[in-house]
Amino acid sequence: MLTAFPDGSRALVTGASRGIGLEFVRQLLGASQFVQVFAACRRPALAPQLAALASQEPRLRIVALDVADESQIEAAAREVAADTDRLHLVVNAAGVLHEAAAGMAPEKRLADVRADTLAASFAVNAFGPLLVAKHFERLLAHRDRAVFASISARVGSIGDNRLGGWYAYRGAKAAQNMFTKTLSVEWARSRRNVTCVALHPGTTDTDLSQPFQANVPPEKLFSVERTVRQLLGVIDGLVPGDTGRFLAWDGSEIPW
Ligand SMILES: NC(=O)c1ccc[n+]([C@@H]2O[C@H](COP(=O)([O-])OP(=O)(O)OC[C@H]3O[C@@H](n4cnc5c(N)ncnc54)[C@H](OP(=O)(O)O)[C@@H]3O)[C@@H](O)[C@H]2O)c1
Repeated sequence: MLTAFPDGSRALVTGASRGIGLEFVRQLLGASQFVQVFAACRRPALAPQLAALASQEPRLRIVALDVADESQIEAAAREVAADTDRLHLVVNAAGVLHEAAAGMAPEKRLADVRADTLAASFAVNAFGPLLVAKHFERLLAHRDRAVFASISARVGSIGDNRLGGWYAYRGAKAAQNMFTKTLSVEWARSRRNVTCVALHPGTTDTDLSQPFQANVPPEKLFSVERTVRQLLGVIDGLVPGDTGRFLAWDGSEIPW
């Protein structure tokens, strides 16, 4: 149960077509104090589960948004601003590790590194949340408590990197973390109502982790329901002093 968000709260979730983002939408709709949930996804026509939710739930509004395209972020912010002047929660869940159609796969070694897939990973994982902050900032410019949470990954921790590999994803998540921290410093001055964090969900059973699940013990592979319940618990418990932190699903601190 979410206790820190008052009645009349509004949320935006990116990457809402499937996986963790879709489950955030589902669980936020289960919290009666959320009167509107904006579910941003890049190809609404290819998001049948989201469409099914929307058909039963008038509080859900689907917004077309490819986070790799700044003009779409700007247009999505205008669209949301036509409906409301404030958001209380922004969850950046859109992310990419592999995409067969784009020839993107996590690199095992240096020879696998490619400029185009590095750029694609950075566009979604790193630049996306920062540009969402830029264009949605005006909807966070109010006095209510607000949370800006970017779903990062422990593999983006520089201090925790023992295995190597996955250059594009690790690098982009590390850059995302730096952007989150930098944003938290600016907003601690100018948007003091907003707590800005990077969150590690834990290994979660989604399309993203699917090819790498073989070596994950069952108790360490979370369902999306569990992951989002845990992350919402962390988000709900955040206090202003938490801004700029990189936290795991259990609330523990992860080294940058
Ligand atoms: N699953 C894990 O074990 C795990 C672990 C650590 C961190 N994470 C992070 O958690 C977040 C969610 O991942 P997931 O496991 O839910 O992955 P997923 O099931 O593969 O879903 C990824 C989501 O991101 C969206 N997306 C990708 N590129 C996009 C773009 N350019 N614009 C807008 N949306 C885009 C996808 O939309 P489409 O349907 O249009 O492709 C999809 O909704 C990611 O940031 C990921 O890095 C996941």
